[in-house]
Amino acid sequence: MDSRPIGVFDSGVGGLTTLRELSRILPGEDILYFGDTGRVPYGTRGEDTIVRYAMEIIQFLTRRSVKMIVAACGTVSATLPETVARSLSVPFTGVVEPTAKAAAGQSASGRIAVLGTPATIRSGAFERAIRALRPEAEVTGQACALFVPLAESGLIEADNPIARLTAEMYLTPLLNQGIDTAILGCTHYPLMAPVIGHVLGEQVQLIDAGATTARHVKNILAALDLLASPGRQGRCDFFVTDAIERFVDIAHIFLGRPITGSVTRVPIEALLLEGPSYTTQEPLQ
Ligand code: DGL
Repeated sequence: MDSRPIGVFDSGVGGLTTLRELSRILPGEDILYFGDTGRVPYGTRGEDTIVRYAMEIIQFLTRRSVKMIVAACGTVSATLPETVARSLSVPFTGVVEPTAKAAAGQSASGRIAVLGTPATIRSGAFERAIRALRPEAEVTGQACALFVPLAESGLIEADNPIARLTAEMYLTPLLNQGIDTAILGCTHYPLMAPVIGHVLGEQVQLIDAGATTARHVKNILAALDLLASPGRQGRCDFFVTDAIERFVDIAHIFLGRPITGSVTRVPIEALLLEGPSYTTQEPLQ
């Protein structure tokens, strides 16, 4: 048994879709969530920048004695070299391995689409992970850059003309490829699931990378005897690199409930050398 917190991070608010699932299946765990809201989006940035940002956040969380680190961000998970993940002093997972395993196992035809940010698709990480498990799989990557701003603007419903047109633009080319499984490989895409499902059709199963990863985290903690003691009520505290109010305002869309716990603003320049100028406040209800 281990009551240290789990460290979860993302480029911004999107990782709260993973956090929602983690808190549901592991209610006794304390969680430190880091959202790099001052530097989002990562998905349109270059590889070296994404890796540097991720390393800074990993260092921040490691200094807070977390027992495990979860990169809830599809872009970071696809970009961070495996050597980095293996060199950490605590267990680490991103979303790629568990989601690729789920997709490879659940697809009947082996024709799988991966939807993600431009950086995620460019990395080819999901494709490699799927083919490592199922070499004959036919994997098609599709970058859907505009889904992130659409989700953050609440333009997510299947009957919203902007959401619908955007989804058709990205997904129509997949329709004649016989795919039966599509990975939602970005934190924001579970919110777009209705419109994505509408365009792809009900014969295509959607795999939510965040929810799949949350179950994987539970399995890792159980296997390493790192779960918090049963009956305990966990709490979640948040760190962000942009205005606290903006984060609190938008977080509920992704978390499915209002934020509880403290929210601390970390100045970006303090990420390498942690300075003293944090602001912490309880969220306004
Ligand atoms: N969190 C990112 C991901 O899952 C999406 C937002 C961004 O581009 O930073 O890929």
